[in-house]
Amino acid sequence: MNTEDFDIIKSGVIYFDNGATTLKPRVLGESISDYYNHYSSNAHRGDYGLSVKASNEYENTRDLVCELIGADSPKQISFTSGTTDSINKIVFGFFRHYLKKGDEVLITKSEHASNVLPWFELADEIGIKVNYIDLDDNHKVTLGNVKKAVSANTKVISLAHVSNVVGDVRPIKEITEYAHSKGILVLCDGAQSVPHMKIDVKDLGIDFLTFSAHKMCGPTGVGVIYIKEEHLNNIKPIIFGGGMNAEFSTDGIRIYKSMPDLLEAGTPNIAGVIGFGYVIKYLNKIGFDKIHEYELELRDYLVKRLKEIPEIEIYNETSEAGIVTINYKDIFPQDLSIYLDKYNICTRAGSHCAKILKDELKIKNTCRISLYFYNTKEEIDKLICALKNPNIKTDIF
Ligand code: ALA
Repeated sequence: MNTEDFDIIKSGVIYFDNGATTLKPRVLGESISDYYNHYSSNAHRGDYGLSVKASNEYENTRDLVCELIGADSPKQISFTSGTTDSINKIVFGFFRHYLKKGDEVLITKSEHASNVLPWFELADEIGIKVNYIDLDDNHKVTLGNVKKAVSANTKVISLAHVSNVVGDVRPIKEITEYAHSKGILVLCDGAQSVPHMKIDVKDLGIDFLTFSAHKMCGPTGVGVIYIKEEHLNNIKPIIFGGGMNAEFSTDGIRIYKSMPDLLEAGTPNIAGVIGFGYVIKYLNKIGFDKIHEYELELRDYLVKRLKEIPEIEIYNETSEAGIVTINYKDIFPQDLSIYLDKYNICTRAGSHCAKILKDELKIKNTCRISLYFYNTKEEIDKLICALKNPNIKTDIF
């Protein structure tokens, strides 16, 4: 659907690397170029029309994000440079002060590096422990396994809503309900869910949500932090400078602003944030329920067609998202990806930044096909045709 909005698709590219980043509809470039060409100025700093317009457009995106995820107030939304930045700001701006030596954070082995490394760093710094929730036979997270993993020391559970390799949709609402009954906070990384389905932070009950604009047709360099109202006054900035302070004096006394400005020191990515707003309106017009439903239909079709090829091993046949992870017998995944590129088919090969998942999958590298609403069954047919090429090995080696 909406393929006509994407010039890269028109050029003949079959883009199946949407887990890494998505293609951009024309409206993104147009809105960014409009900012640079017609009202380029700083936001929140100028008392003249251009700057007022830039500020209004920037804040309009905050309102759209607030509505998108069902938050109560735009002050709960801060813009960052991406999910990685968002998680780091929560881990070092909130949990560094909230946790103490011996406290435990639970993650899984299928988390992305951005939801593992900050915790390892914090563990080294203040002596918390990082422990793992076991995955089930399909490499998924279950509430039962969460309950088994929780101990008296567990203070936070930090999980992707959807894993970027396994494609499982974690039962975040149930996990949060259980976690809160034990006084445990929940950080939910929505990088692979917010772009693909309707999210309601209040329904999920989560304490923190993070996601990136570039994985949902938006610009690179823009991310989001959502913070539950009750934690708003307890997050501290880890970057200091203009825009986040209300006052400071020679003797070192300083007064910082509250959320959301508190976490937005320095000139932000104004063009990107404004462009992101136009993209949210674009996606809203299509409808997130429609996007989700269509992607699941495509995924079913993809899995069904991949199963026609005996040499293909599918690691997540029961994927609940548009993410399907495979290997082709005796072909190194990167070679497979390079081979597919000859057909203008873009996939991602490697560990997909989930480097400890190898302990579960028993394989280090895979080739991932990740879908979005502009993909089609015809494109999947072309992928299958390339994979069925009887000369695939000679063509590669
Ligand atoms: N997190 C991105 C991916 O899954 C980069 O590919």
